[in-house]
Amino acid sequence: MRLVRQAIQKDEKLINSPAWQALTKHYEENKSVHILDLFATDPKRFENFSLQQGNLLLDYSKNRVSKETLALLFDLAKQAGVEDWREKLFSGEKINTTEDRSVLHTALRNRSNKPVLSDGEDVMPSINDVLDKMRGFSERVRSGEWKGHTGKAITDIVNIGIGGSDLGPDMICTALQPYASHLNVHFVSNVDAMQVTQILSGLSSETTLFIVASKTFTTQETLTNAKTCRAWFLDQDATTEQDVAKHFAAVSTNSDAVSAFGIDTDNMFSFWDWVGGRYSLWSAVGLSIILYVGMDNYIELLSGAHDMDTHFAEQPFETNIPVILAVLGVWYVNFYGAESQAVLPYDHNLGLLPAYLEQADMESNGKSVTRDGAAVSYGTGPIVWGAEGINGQHAFYQLLHQGTRIIPADFIASVQSQTDNQHHSDILASNFLAQTEALMRGRSLEETAQELESQGVSKEEAAMRLPHMYFEGNQPTNSIVMDKLTPYNLGSIVAMYEHKIFVQGIIWNVNSYDQWGVELGKKLAKNVLQELESGEDKFDHDSSTQGLISWFRQHRK
Ligand code: F6P
Repeated sequence: MRLVRQAIQKDEKLINSPAWQALTKHYEENKSVHILDLFATDPKRFENFSLQQGNLLLDYSKNRVSKETLALLFDLAKQAGVEDWREKLFSGEKINTTEDRSVLHTALRNRSNKPVLSDGEDVMPSINDVLDKMRGFSERVRSGEWKGHTGKAITDIVNIGIGGSDLGPDMICTALQPYASHLNVHFVSNVDAMQVTQILSGLSSETTLFIVASKTFTTQETLTNAKTCRAWFLDQDATTEQDVAKHFAAVSTNSDAVSAFGIDTDNMFSFWDWVGGRYSLWSAVGLSIILYVGMDNYIELLSGAHDMDTHFAEQPFETNIPVILAVLGVWYVNFYGAESQAVLPYDHNLGLLPAYLEQADMESNGKSVTRDGAAVSYGTGPIVWGAEGINGQHAFYQLLHQGTRIIPADFIASVQSQTDNQHHSDILASNFLAQTEALMRGRSLEETAQELESQGVSKEEAAMRLPHMYFEGNQPTNSIVMDKLTPYNLGSIVAMYEHKIFVQGIIWNVNSYDQWGVELGKKLAKNVLQELESGEDKFDHDSSTQGLISWFRQHRK
C-alpha cells in the first residue's frame, strides 16, 4: 500500500489565521474591482504606488490592490514572521533545516565586510580569500600572462556546468556583453553531445580554458561533459597530461572529487555548502563572469546586490521592494488563483533572465509541504515563464490580453540603450510602455463599436466582430525600470528577485533552500542507463516506461 499525500497531516494554520481570513473577506468584497477604477479614485496612484531604490524604479500601480489590500498583505507577512526570518537569513542561522545548512549567499556580496557567522565562524575572511584568488587568476588570463600549452594566450573560456552552475553565469555574461573585452565565453550544460560538439568544433586546444563548475562535483551531465572536453583536449596534436593544468580549472565545494577528476587543486576555486546551487553566481561559480567582464565589473555586480540586500534588510514593508513584489504574488496565487508569473524583459541582453528565474523561483518554492512536514492547504510557487517582451508580443501575448487566465507579469526595461540607435530604442520603449497600459485598460464594447463605425464597417459585420475584439483588461503588471543595464543594476535586480522568493517561502512556510524533488529522476535515470547500455532488463517498470525503453533499444544505433 503506497503512503499517499493524504496520509500526511494537512497544515491549515495559515488559511485559518486572522491575516489570511481578513484577506479572504477583503478579496470577496473587492475581487471585481477594475484597476482603471483604482486610478480614477486616486489621481496620484503612480506616486503612491511606485518606489525607487538606487537606479531602479518599481511601478506597481497597475495591480488589483488598494492601500488597504497592501496593509492586509503586510499583516500576513508580519504574522508569518518575515522580519525574524530575514534576521535569521542574514545572520547565518541554519534556515535550510532539511539539509542543516545556513543560507548565506548574501555574505558573498557583503561589501561592508561586517563579520557574518556560520557555525560560530566568520565566513568573510575565506570569502575574501577566494575573491582575491579569482582576481589574480582572472587578471593573469585576461592579460595574456597565463599561457596555454604552446605558449599562446587564452582566447576562449568554456564553462561546463548545469542548473545554478550554468544559468547564473550564462545569464549574467549575456546581459553584460557590452562590458566584455577580448575573451569569448561559451556554456556547455546539456549532456546531449550536440552542444559540446558544436562548441568544441570552433575552438583551439592551444587557447581554450575549461572551467568545470559543479557545487557537488557529482552531477552526471557536468562530469560527462568535462570528461569529453578533457578527452578532446588530449586528442589534439601535441597535448599531454601535464598540459591539462594549463587548460582546466574547477569551481566546487568538493576538493576530493576535483582531485580525483585530475584537475590540479591549485586551479580550484572553492565555495561552501551554505551557498545553494541556484544562488551560486555570487560565489566562485562567477569565475566565468569575471574572466569575461573583469573583476571590477563583477565587484559592481556584487555591490548592486549588496545594496539591494541592505534595502531589503532595513526598509519597512511599505517601502520594501522585494516584500511588495512578494505579497503581490501571494495575492494573485492564493486569492485570485493565478497559476503563473510572467517575466518579460524589454532588453535583448536580458533574454536569459526568465530561464534563470525559472530555476531561482521554481526550485525554491515548488514545494507542497511546510517546514514542519505537513501538507500545505494552499498554492505555493507559481509557474515562472517568459521571454523577451517585444518578441512575445508577436507570439504569446494574445493569451495575456484575451485568454481566460489571470497572469501577473513583470515588465523589465532599461531606459538607455547600449547602442547609438535611439530610434530602435524608442520603438522598444514605446512598446514596453503601451503593453502594460493595454493589459490594464483592455478595450470596452463602446470603444470597439466606435472604432468599427469610424472604419465604415457595416452594422452586421460590426456585431459579428465585437465580441472578438472586446477585452476586459484588468491584467496586473509591475514595471521594473533601470537607467541602464549595468553590472550594478543587474546585481540589484537579481538580489531583488532572490528576496522576493525568500519572503514568499516564509509566508507559505516552506523551505525554499532544498530541492529533494529532483533526486528521484536522477536515481531512476541511472537504472535506465544500465538497462539501455547492457540491453538487459534489471529493474521493474510500468508498461509505458518498459515499452519506451524497448523502443529506444530497438532503434538506437
Ligand atoms: O539537480 C538540481 C541541482 O542540484 C541544482 O540545484 C543545481 O544548481 C544543479 O543541480 C547543479 O548542481 P552542481 O552544481 O552540484 O553540479
